[in-house]
Amino acid sequence: MTATTFKPRVFSGIQPTNHLQLGNYLGAVKRFVEMQNTGVETVYCIVDLHAITTWQDPADLRHATRELAAGYIASGLDPKRSILFNQSQVPGHAQLAWIFNCVARVGWMNRMTQFKDKAGKNAENASLGLYAYPSLMAADILLYKATQVPVGEDQKQHLELTRDIAAKFNHDFKVDFFPITEPVIEGAATRVMSLRDGSKKMSKSDPSDASRINLTDDANAIAQKFRKARTDAEPLPDTVDGLKDRPEARNLVNIYAALAEISPDAVVSQFAGQGFGAFKPALADLAVAKLAPIADEMSRLMADPAEIDRILGGGAERANAIAQPILDDVYDIVGMIRSRQI
Ligand code: AMP
Ligand code: TRP
Repeated sequence: MTATTFKPRVFSGIQPTNHLQLGNYLGAVKRFVEMQNTGVETVYCIVDLHAITTWQDPADLRHATRELAAGYIASGLDPKRSILFNQSQVPGHAQLAWIFNCVARVGWMNRMTQFKDKAGKNAENASLGLYAYPSLMAADILLYKATQVPVGEDQKQHLELTRDIAAKFNHDFKVDFFPITEPVIEGAATRVMSLRDGSKKMSKSDPSDASRINLTDDANAIAQKFRKARTDAEPLPDTVDGLKDRPEARNLVNIYAALAEISPDAVVSQFAGQGFGAFKPALADLAVAKLAPIADEMSRLMADPAEIDRILGGGAERANAIAQPILDDVYDIVGMIRSRQI
């Protein structure tokens, strides 16, 4: 079989649960915008079907979906250049996920660490959807035959599973239909850590609000949180090697680097020998300068929810136009009769 070349296409998604935090912004949204600006075709999704794998209050879900759309746009995502939509408006995601539920193996799902983390001690009581979550994620990506997926470090295992599902489908049906998607996990901020504990990932679901910077935080809150961020008593070293075994210091340097769009090496050489008394205010100023305009634009956009819904509807139509022919081919490959006149 000659290898098929697939058209370059970028896909990624974020769950509409709680507010966007700095880790989502630096590890995901900012990278999405950079990829959009390279001119490649980009499809960005608000994964509301994934969100309901854990309980979501319906009114909160609607609000979080619009707020995430506003966050994407305020960060520079242009709904004309990228396709921006919420997952449930394109039925192919759920349809392809079912096919993949029949391709993926139970043993593969049992290895997923995110399921173990999210299900906690009482895995018997987790939703069936939470267990099948990675199969829906593979469907999101492969419904568009996406070749590249920008994500933070924590999604690596799910992307490996996506590649396994694509390969097994191609193998079982003797086709070269799905691409083996490349994860794009790059930059200084692929894993932004909690400001309170350098061994824990910054997360929207951490009970301590002081552990994260929310995109909706005002200048005061941002400055306060960086001032109180846990660090050690040493000054900054001359090179990044000196940050080994200093996870909190390393995290703040990485955040600075990603916000300033310079390397962590350049940050330490700029601040070498200075203590956190000097570095933290500089970091807070930089963060406020970069994030405050995004927060302002988000609240401006949120004042007109009908316009956000219109943008999502338009994006869903464009997404569906790519997805439907691919789904039709999948059904045909699998052996489903399609004779209904539409
Ligand atoms: P989620 O909020 O779990 O839907 O994550 C959305 C995107 O943000 C994914 O690509 C994650 O990998 C990324 N992400 C979430 N938290 C962090 C973090 N602390 N550091 C870097 N990337 C993150
Ligand atoms: N699982 C991802 C997260 O928690 C969200 C997601 C769903 C996603 N579908 C995707 C990311 C497809 C990339 C591509 O962050």
